Amino acid sequence: MVTLFGISGSLRKGSYNSGLLRAAVELMPENARLEAETIEGIPLYNADVETAEGVPDVVERIKDRIAAADGLLLVTPEYNNSIPGVFKNAIDWISRPPEDRIRVFQNRPVGIIGASAGPHGTVFSQTAWLPVLRTLAMRPWFGKLLYVNGAMKLFDSSGNLIDDAIRSRLKSYLEGFVAFVRENR
Ligand SMILES: Cc1cc2nc3c(=O)[nH]c(=O)nc-3n(C[C@H](O)[C@H](O)[C@H](O)COP(=O)(O)O)c2cc1C
Repeated sequence: MVTLFGISGSLRKGSYNSGLLRAAVELMPENARLEAETIEGIPLYNADVETAEGVPDVVERIKDRIAAADGLLLVTPEYNNSIPGVFKNAIDWISRPPEDRIRVFQNRPVGIIGASAGPHGTVFSQTAWLPVLRTLAMRPWFGKLLYVNGAMKLFDSSGNLIDDAIRSRLKSYLEGFVAFVRENR
């Protein structure tokens, strides 16, 4: 059994990216499962808070779940052609303290997908993640790309993915990523 841990980088109730992650949970290949998480409840990073109180419990729980998984799936929105601050903030907290980075991130397979309203479907935010993943010494999978553009036509008002062509591409992405994780975990 391969276990993936997936994080949606949006706090919006009807989020396309949270909907994409929910669809991914449904479309996982046999003998593989995907645990879905949000960034809800993660405070803004503050080094003074870290020094005084350590890493918040909500962040420690996510760190442990990533460390227990065989691979990480980032489902990223795009703001102003880059990573939304709330998602970067979450990963910044998760990367603390530096001694835990090896346990949580190093050599862990990682996939990135994302949905946006615009015409490029998160190509810029997915690309903006790459230096972060390199810094965390992760192992990104580049075998397939999934940039979901024009999302308002593909998701319903609750953020559920209703487009069969994207569901099929997502399924194929997950098959490829799970195979990569199996080889590299
Ligand atoms: C501050 C801001 C900047 C945005 N910039 C982009 C952008 O650069 N490219 C894009 O495709 N969509 C952009 N959007 C639209 C988002 O794709 C849209 O809000 C989408 O719903 C965000 O993902 P979510 O549904 O998962 O929250 C932006 C939205 C906001 C609020």
